[in-house]
Amino acid sequence: MNSSCSVNIIDGKAAAARVLNDVRDAVSALKDYGLHPALAVVLVGHDPASQVYVRNKVLRAKETSIRSVEHKLAAETTESDLLGLIADLNADPTINGILVQLPLPTHINENRVLQAIAPLKDVDGFHSENVGGLSQGREVLTPCTPNGCMHLLQDTLGDLSGKHAVVVGRSNIVGKPMAALLLKANCTVTVVHSRSVNAGELCRQADIVVVAVGRPRMLDASWLKPGCVVIDVGINRIEEDGRTRLVGDVDFDSALRVVSAITPVPGGVGPMTIALLMKNTVTATRLQHPALTIHSTPAEATCLSIS
Ligand code: GUN
Repeated sequence: MNSSCSVNIIDGKAAAARVLNDVRDAVSALKDYGLHPALAVVLVGHDPASQVYVRNKVLRAKETSIRSVEHKLAAETTESDLLGLIADLNADPTINGILVQLPLPTHINENRVLQAIAPLKDVDGFHSENVGGLSQGREVLTPCTPNGCMHLLQDTLGDLSGKHAVVVGRSNIVGKPMAALLLKANCTVTVVHSRSVNAGELCRQADIVVVAVGRPRMLDASWLKPGCVVIDVGINRIEEDGRTRLVGDVDFDSALRVVSAITPVPGGVGPMTIALLMKNTVTATRLQHPALTIHSTPAEATCLSIS
């Protein structure tokens, strides 16, 4: 048992600020090579949550001197028109990253759209070329939220080799790539999902628990091994005591009694996702100019350090 004062409440805002500082340095270093990283953000329709996410992405781009180009399309936009825009962005040498905000309206096939993005501009890391590359351990663009979780885990624990990590949830956006990244970092990885038998028992064996299920406060202390580290990806809006609150997939107050470290909601994983999107935009720029890696000026060292 922990007294809550000894628990490390992982500060995602501070970690994101460090990543964004590195991005700023890298953008400045790339300027010496005549390169100015640019991100195209595509929003189809008027989903309020998506509008907030897109606004924040554009704001962070501005703060890191990344050029951003917004494409706001009507909800009735056809799949063919959206694919046409993506083809134009793929062909545009001044655009380095393309992000199509999800979810898309139901008349558009999400998979066809994600597969249309050039893999080297796929800053979400959702294209099958990048998904496959990640599972093979190649250097590819990887999904931002799991990437952010890895930063927080490595900041907290250092080397993750040999740790038993349980990922709760198996979505394409978080659960599956999270498991691949943990495996790449030499963890023993278990994925728990809605059909798992004895999910609680599996979680109680974990040194690291990453939860991404979208169910408010689904896990409490009874699911957790004393001293484990918990990364809570959930952001759930609930009504409580007559007001709206954001809570995670983990019952934070209950978990505090046993964990050694935990991310809060808000202020944990959330800020990292957008920071890693900016980092991916810089990485995409570098991957599109492979000759850069043969230079060894101080500025280039900065470029390489963010890869
Ligand atoms: N919608 C919710 N999360 C994401 C994400 O990581 N990328 C995109 N493109 N859309 C999202």
